[in-house]
Amino acid sequence: MLEQTLAILKPDCLRKNLTGEVMGRIEKAGFKIVAMEIVKLTPQAAREFYAVHKARSFYEDLVRFMSSGRCMPIALEKENAVEDFRAFMGTTNPKEAKEGTIRKLFADSIKENIVHGSDSLEVARSEIAFFFSGKELLESD
Ligand code: CMP
Repeated sequence: MLEQTLAILKPDCLRKNLTGEVMGRIEKAGFKIVAMEIVKLTPQAAREFYAVHKARSFYEDLVRFMSSGRCMPIALEKENAVEDFRAFMGTTNPKEAKEGTIRKLFADSIKENIVHGSDSLEVARSEIAFFFSGKELLESD
């Protein structure tokens, strides 16, 4: 099924000047870019985006990190995009990630892990809507 998922190139990805490298790999893996932007999240916006984690011990740390610099939310489209993007980026903890995945290649820690990807189709819809209104989400040609 043709799906859309939300990726975020996190502040560590931009700080390390890795956006071109990671975007190139995303495109080579067959994902189409549907919408993208560069934004510096306020702590409040980061809290809202990660509200599902608010009871976790790492929540405030995660909020601090995600609002520490610019990030790039990107809506991506591909057959089976949600699952395929998660496999492509690797496990949350880069130490456990498979060889060749984005997190294995570029991430420093479980918190500073370069990239985010939606974990289900339903979550993808709400995460895409968090950053993009309908007008950016043009159907791909
Ligand atoms: P992400 O895929 O964006 O979803 C939730 C984020 O929380 C995750 O990537 C990590 O950046 C962060 N995270 C998960 N577990 C921990 C942890 N134990 N300590 C710090 N950050 C974490």
